[in-house]
Amino acid sequence: MRNWLVLLCPCAVGVVLHLWLLLLSCPAGGPGKQHPAGLLAFFPHWKPKHYDVIVGVLSARHNEELRNVIRSTWVRHLKQHPGLSQRVLVKFIIGARGCDVPLEDREDPYSCRLLNITSPVLNQEIEAFTLPEDDTSMLSEDRIVSVHFKVLYPIVITSLGVFYNAKDVGFQRNITVKLYQAEQEEALFSARFSPPSCGVQVNRLWYKPVEQFILPESFEGTIVWESQDLQGLVSKNLHKVTVNDGGGVFRITTAGEGSLPYEFTQGVEGIAGGFIYTIQEGEALLQSLQSRPERIMHHVNKLKEEDALLKDESNTYEDIVFVDVVDTYRNVPAKLLYFYRWTVESASFNVLLKTDDDCYIDLEAVFNRIKLKNLGRPNTWWGNFRLNWAVDRTGKWQELEYPSPAYPAFACGSGYVISKDIVEWLASNSERLKIYQGEDVSMGIWMAAIGPKRYQDNLWLCEKTCESGMLSSPQYSPQELTDLWRIKELCGDPCKCEES
Ligand SMILES: *[C@@H]1O[C@H](CO)[C@@H](O)[C@H](O)[C@H]1NC(C)=O
Ligand SMILES: *[C@@H]1O[C@H](CO)[C@@H](O)[C@H](O)[C@H]1NC(C)=O
Repeated sequence: MRNWLVLLCPCAVGVVLHLWLLLLSCPAGGPGKQHPAGLLAFFPHWKPKHYDVIVGVLSARHNEELRNVIRSTWVRHLKQHPGLSQRVLVKFIIGARGCDVPLEDREDPYSCRLLNITSPVLNQEIEAFTLPEDDTSMLSEDRIVSVHFKVLYPIVITSLGVFYNAKDVGFQRNITVKLYQAEQEEALFSARFSPPSCGVQVNRLWYKPVEQFILPESFEGTIVWESQDLQGLVSKNLHKVTVNDGGGVFRITTAGEGSLPYEFTQGVEGIAGGFIYTIQEGEALLQSLQSRPERIMHHVNKLKEEDALLKDESNTYEDIVFVDVVDTYRNVPAKLLYFYRWTVESASFNVLLKTDDDCYIDLEAVFNRIKLKNLGRPNTWWGNFRLNWAVDRTGKWQELEYPSPAYPAFACGSGYVISKDIVEWLASNSERLKIYQGEDVSMGIWMAAIGPKRYQDNLWLCEKTCESGMLSSPQYSPQELTDLWRIKELCGDPCKCEES
């Protein structure tokens, strides 16, 4: 027996030494880099402290003021609450990196994508599509063909065009070409091609001038070619043509980004002609491009300042989880998944409450309700659910990846609670889950896969209103949050108070 121990001893020393080195190499506060679960396997008594509720507050890097209001209102109330202070852990979820592209130089304010315009073609008409000269491949015939595009810098469309077939004697078809704005029923403008007068012939296209109309930045549109005859259109696979994007002022989205032909499901993706356009406000574009390097330098310096401030803030309050993403609106679902992973790896808890930094939260009421309605059970999702919510194809909530016209049930943004088993499922699948446009709808789509028990509760408010007994309410300014909480402290109800 003694001999066995002697033999085991160096081994045990080695393990302890190894663990100690691991600990040294894992400084606290580096999300995603800690592996406490692995350590716990060796030291079961090193369990992290247990919490009934972990609260994750999604926050943008620059929202320090909102965070401070939260710290001095409902979080301070919790910390001073004898019954609750040990049962809740509140963390702000913040992207570890800021976007290094200045706002003015981004494609849109929701992502960090550089508006990549290089040497724009100014003061001349540009043919959007051209066929290669030596093109011998067959043109196909379809009745309806459409192509989607997004404008990145304002353009003016001056003509719409159709392909003609070299075998045609003259132009023998009746075709309409229409430009739609995404999601709109009415065409913005159209051109009708019918024999014998068919407009201007350029290369292998007939063009007709259209009423000039500025398509603004971020405009998303569809050009539809439709045959009015029994004969089909002469059309071409988009990949076989040259797209002349004027240096990057528009982008074809049909083929490039996995989007769906959502408006014209009967149509074929491709082109049956083209359009001619000019770049609007070319001088302003040139100036903006010239001043870009300076702007970027200034912006990067400001980011460094922001980094330093955030680091200080985090050291002071120790309530921030930095997740490994660029902090943009489009990355919010990813922030959430990283946070779920962090909670599973770093904490022991029963349920997780997710909310945003502009929300009023009454955690005491949340606790009471969990007890009253027995909401701490596994496979539970408790919130205020949106049902049959239409999928937006443009704008801030643009969704091109989810094919159905309506989203599955999702909890509106002010807050929801999920049980630990759901958090664990999300965490362990986080690398496989597809990210959709918003954090709330992404969550709905992910949850549709596992079908948790949904507890509908109108006290998680979806709109900025005040209701007695509400668990949460969204979209407040720092001042409004402060005022709500002051009234709540004074009278026990944030909405009604007889102030003397
Ligand atoms: C910008 O566009 C050019 C040419 O289209 C391309 O070579 C380059 O990689 C792009 N840069 C970025 C950051 O997307
Ligand atoms: C085009 O439309 C006109 C009537 O609008 C019709 O007379 C003509 O036959 C059509 N052409 C073809 C090729 O179908």
